[in-house]
Amino acid sequence: MNLLDRAEEVRSILKKDLLQVKIDFQSVEDIRIKFLGKKGYIPTLFREFASLSVEEKRKYGKILNLLKKEAEDSINTLKQRSTSVAAKEEFFDFTLPGKPQKSGHLHPVTQTMNEICSIFREMGFGIEFGPEVETDYYNFQALNFPENHPAREMQDTFFIDDSILLRTHTSPIQIRTMEKQKPPIRILAPGRVYRNEAISARSYCTFHQIEGLYVDENVTFCELKGTLEIFAKRYFGKNVKLRFRPSYFPFTEPSAEVDISCFICGGSGCRVCKNTGWLEILGSGMVDPNVFVSVGIDPEKYTGYAFGMGPDRIAMLKYGIDDIRLFFDGDIRFLKQF
Ligand code: DAH
Repeated sequence: MNLLDRAEEVRSILKKDLLQVKIDFQSVEDIRIKFLGKKGYIPTLFREFASLSVEEKRKYGKILNLLKKEAEDSINTLKQRSTSVAAKEEFFDFTLPGKPQKSGHLHPVTQTMNEICSIFREMGFGIEFGPEVETDYYNFQALNFPENHPAREMQDTFFIDDSILLRTHTSPIQIRTMEKQKPPIRILAPGRVYRNEAISARSYCTFHQIEGLYVDENVTFCELKGTLEIFAKRYFGKNVKLRFRPSYFPFTEPSAEVDISCFICGGSGCRVCKNTGWLEILGSGMVDPNVFVSVGIDPEKYTGYAFGMGPDRIAMLKYGIDDIRLFFDGDIRFLKQF
């Protein structure tokens, strides 16, 4: 084999080795010795070159020099890479804190609803859900709002057509539950509701409600009061007082609106309770016998109570938020605070 072919062979071995070499100091050094060390391939070729004739030297000199330069350059590059890899490994500080992962969390209203639901769950209430697109029957008729009855105007409704609408309250879940369960029934029904109201800091076209319903033999107004009192004390604090004011809802008789003593000022009067000392938190009452008739429950045998509260308002009171629209804007700067 002449020197030219041998140089070509060394070049192809070098190429192969460069592809396979590990980037650490020792492996790169091994390659250097193999090709450029005293007894390495390239000095060996040069020693043979020394004994060639002037004419042959002219022929091979350039080629050998080129090969040597290629080997030196590529091995030097490898050396640099191996030291920078080593430097990185050496200076890696395992005690540095990791990069924080951004994680989401539950919406403040969802948190509020979960807290409220869990208090009632501990008292034996189950959780029920219903559709947001509802029929006029479930949203109004079965709840004792007769057609054309002025009580319907208490709730400005988004109609989809004559008989289909966006539910204006979670009370239709009372009907759906009583249709499929026999008493005793004890449920809580959280969800989103819709009303065609002028949008302002105090009202929005969508918000949330939590409905409660308890039906059994001999359920009394007294139990309604006791249950709501336990809830209010657990949720707002044990010094909270309750006040029941007579009211009207088509689906309850008698009906009451419930206020709690202002947990900000303790009842002495402040900006949040508008100096009244009281905050309205829910509507309630004894299930109207007409509602029982519409779901086939015997009103002679069973009685029940129901209540409905607004978790958006409760969350606003609790966190001191003065504009309900903040809950629905999806502004991460606002939501991050909870
Ligand atoms: N559904 C009523 C509303 O949206 C709230 C309500 C009042 C629910 C009294 C009840 C209740 O279950 O008994 O205004």
